[in-house]
Amino acid sequence: MGNNFITLEGGEGAGKTTILHLLSEKLQALGYDVLTTREPGGIEISEKIRNIILDTSHTEMEKRTEALLYAAARRQHLVEKVLPALENGKIVLCDRFIDSSLAYQGYARGIGMDEVYTINQFAIQQCMPGLTLFFDIKPEKGLQRIASNNNRERNRLDMETLSFHQMVYEGYSKLRERFPERIKTINADQQLDKVVADAWNNIVEYISK
Ligand code: TMP
Repeated sequence: MGNNFITLEGGEGAGKTTILHLLSEKLQALGYDVLTTREPGGIEISEKIRNIILDTSHTEMEKRTEALLYAAARRQHLVEKVLPALENGKIVLCDRFIDSSLAYQGYARGIGMDEVYTINQFAIQQCMPGLTLFFDIKPEKGLQRIASNNNRERNRLDMETLSFHQMVYEGYSKLRERFPERIKTINADQQLDKVVADAWNNIVEYISK
């Protein structure tokens, strides 16, 4: 196996967070040491940046400011948490990473994927995940799911229109075309156990390489 850094991606309501914990349990049952974490956040400084980005009252936040804040949170999280875990031989399962910035800020916000990629290279210095699971659900369906989940925090990006989330989906489609070796698509519009099984098959294939 090459790189133990695995990321989970997708639009809102794809179920990534629940699935991430189930995948972690399965890996641990096989004896792997696993770190689960999320972006933006995962450590104190980055959780504070997360609160600034996602605060529903920050309606004046400009799109490049937003992109830079995500990149800053990413940098700190990477050096403080992800890289040390990888150096200690852990498998890192991370809920969102650079592809979120490319799809949300680069494509949906219209900054341009290449520009957002450039500022993220400054932040991550080539440290890319070896495997990315994209949880595929149409934005209409995903948004319906989160609307019926009362326990979920509501953030500034949830206030965006359906067409914004459709752009995010298109952004991910472009990334899937561009990085077919790294990004594997999982149909997230099926029963949870099926989604987990499909994701698991991809992980097993990857770690046994
Ligand atoms: P979450 O709901 O998956 O915790 O993510 C918080 C929101 O932040 C979600 O709407 C996706 C968005 N996001 C970006 O726009 N760019 C990024 O780089 C990341 C990591 C998340």
